[in-house]
Amino acid sequence: MTPISLLQNKQILLGVSGSIACYKAVDLASQMTQAGALVDVIMTEAAQQFVTPLTFRSVTGRPVFSNMWDLDDHVRHVGLGETADLFLIVPATANTLAKLAHGTADNLLTVTALAARCPLLVAPAMDGGMFAHPATQANLETLRARGVSILGPAVGRMASGLSGPGRMLEPADLLGHVRLTLAQKGPLAGTKVVVSTGPTREPMDPVRFISNRSTGKQGLAVAQAALDAGAQVTLVAGPISAPIPFGAHTIHVETTQQMADAVLGAIQDADALFMVAAVADFRPGKQSSQKIKKTEMEDWGLAIGLEVTLDILSAVKEHRERTGFPRVSLGFAAETHDAFEYGRQKLLRKGLNFIAVNDVLQPDAGFGVDTNRVVLLSSAGVVEEMPLLSKTAVAERLVHHVARALGR
Ligand code: CTP
Repeated sequence: MTPISLLQNKQILLGVSGSIACYKAVDLASQMTQAGALVDVIMTEAAQQFVTPLTFRSVTGRPVFSNMWDLDDHVRHVGLGETADLFLIVPATANTLAKLAHGTADNLLTVTALAARCPLLVAPAMDGGMFAHPATQANLETLRARGVSILGPAVGRMASGLSGPGRMLEPADLLGHVRLTLAQKGPLAGTKVVVSTGPTREPMDPVRFISNRSTGKQGLAVAQAALDAGAQVTLVAGPISAPIPFGAHTIHVETTQQMADAVLGAIQDADALFMVAAVADFRPGKQSSQKIKKTEMEDWGLAIGLEVTLDILSAVKEHRERTGFPRVSLGFAAETHDAFEYGRQKLLRKGLNFIAVNDVLQPDAGFGVDTNRVVLLSSAGVVEEMPLLSKTAVAERLVHHVARALGR
């Protein structure tokens, strides 16, 4: 899932101070650049003992600055501090944290920090007892009180071989924090959004179940797009193996009943529901608590029957009529034929504001692939007929329409 718009053309200042964790900052710079951000790196002298400016320059495609006495660098970076969207210090050593806490400005990184007007995020990285030392803790407290976000550190193995708090967060988590910070000004800031994703599974016995081909990709993309728009996201996920977006409160479920319970619980005060899950429509009429032996299968096969599962959106409709929540609700219609007409009927039957109709038989849309072709309907007709897009782009379009419906 390549993030598209949130980081696109965002100006991010990346301050790098001297720790072995500098190599992770290179990965982070690369990931942010690939996501479209303009990453300007400032290195301390100590950082250059671990990695060279050329390394950062190679991944960001932009000059790297380090010399406070180069007047051009100095003036440009103080300027960048004033215009950047975000200032990240990764890794932040105990020494750099102390300087930041006390307003010391003795290198280009700390000078720029004093000039910066944007959110400042620092990721501490240090060894042994340095993190726990009262001096470091007091410095962190000072920074926190000043509105600086302290990311981590994690507990784990450090360069000395010791284990404990001090290990820097991994680049994927740091990127998650960057996204959440940039999203704070998004159109869904302050809203609560529920997203369901993946298949559900209906067990026949402890080893067998009825399910479907959903991998959860489209729902995960919707959850990420809602997070990027600033929403607080509850993700109700059936069994899926793809990574969960950073910052989503996730409830893992297996059966349709469990998904229904989780969704109905989460929508109590929700602004929007995106019901993306491919819910299993049938379940075995009988379930065995023990594995059914092959010799018994013939009898079971005949006797097992199938029963229809609860329609979660119909239960949501009822809840909505009583309480007004969720304020806006969007469903998906997975169709193999007459997609438009079936979609329209489902929209009305399930009491939805929107339905995203997709033909799951198309090779470049539907289950498992990274693209989708969706027509968004409301009771007024076609809202948007999307061309073939990445699931990320589809998700961003859907979030945009729901945000508008919420008056954002
Ligand atoms: N859905 C639901 N509960 C179910 C089945 C589906 O809430 N038991 C939701 C899906 O999450 C989706 C929408 O209803 O948002 C439409 O799902 P879909 O599988 O396309 O339709 P069905 O209602 O299952 O109808 P059919 O099988 O006849 O196409």
